[in-house]
Amino acid sequence: MVNLLIVYYSAYGHIFKMTSTVKEEMKGIDEVRIKMVKVPEFESAKENMSGQEAYVNAQELQEDVPEASLKDLKWADGILWGIPTRFGNMPAQIKQFIDQAGGLWQEGKLEDVVTGIMTSTNTMHGGQETTIITSLIPMIHLGMIYVGLPYGENPELFPAEAKGGSPYGASTVAGADGSRTPVEDELKMAVRLGKRIYKVAKSINK
Ligand SMILES: Cc1cc2nc3c(=O)[nH]c(=O)nc-3n(C[C@H](O)[C@H](O)[C@H](O)COP(=O)(O)O)c2cc1C
Repeated sequence: MVNLLIVYYSAYGHIFKMTSTVKEEMKGIDEVRIKMVKVPEFESAKENMSGQEAYVNAQELQEDVPEASLKDLKWADGILWGIPTRFGNMPAQIKQFIDQAGGLWQEGKLEDVVTGIMTSTNTMHGGQETTIITSLIPMIHLGMIYVGLPYGENPELFPAEAKGGSPYGASTVAGADGSRTPVEDELKMAVRLGKRIYKVAKSINK
């Protein structure tokens, strides 16, 4: 069995839509145990954003998702991260969570864990690629094995119109006002990324 952890942070629900689609689409696969967890929110962010309807609604939808802990990271053979952009980089909430993994790093517990990243930005060129690439740095320090989204498996990477998805990982574009929701091709690629993590983790854990 492969233990696949989906760990994410989603203020406005776009990443949550992507992670829950992957979870839903992969749950029928034999030999995979899937667990989806959300990175804990900062109290300061809850206060700052409590006046935003989009934030409050998205948080309500995620109420039943358990909060991520280091035990989840230890449990995983594969990890799919859902990381929306903050100024082209990962949100502090995710950074804070990963920064607690020093002990796991020391023990080499995350070495050879297969990993991939999904992101979301408001704008097409506002960090689709930089967020994934910069988020990759701590994963490499932790010894994880990164899988991207190769062109061969993802014909959607040649779109006629602007949409998410790059060889670095899955992604969606939320739109300037955040009203665009992940489209079918973006969700398809997200699911394929989840399956790829599973496939590689399975071959390593034989
Ligand atoms: C503080 C802050 C910084 C952001 N920086 C960017 C940015 O650099 N580029 C961009 O396109 N979107 C940016 N956004 C928009 C978010 O990336 C967008 O809300 C997010 O991808 C939506 O995902 P979610 O619904 O899962 O939270 C930013 C949002 C916030 C709150």
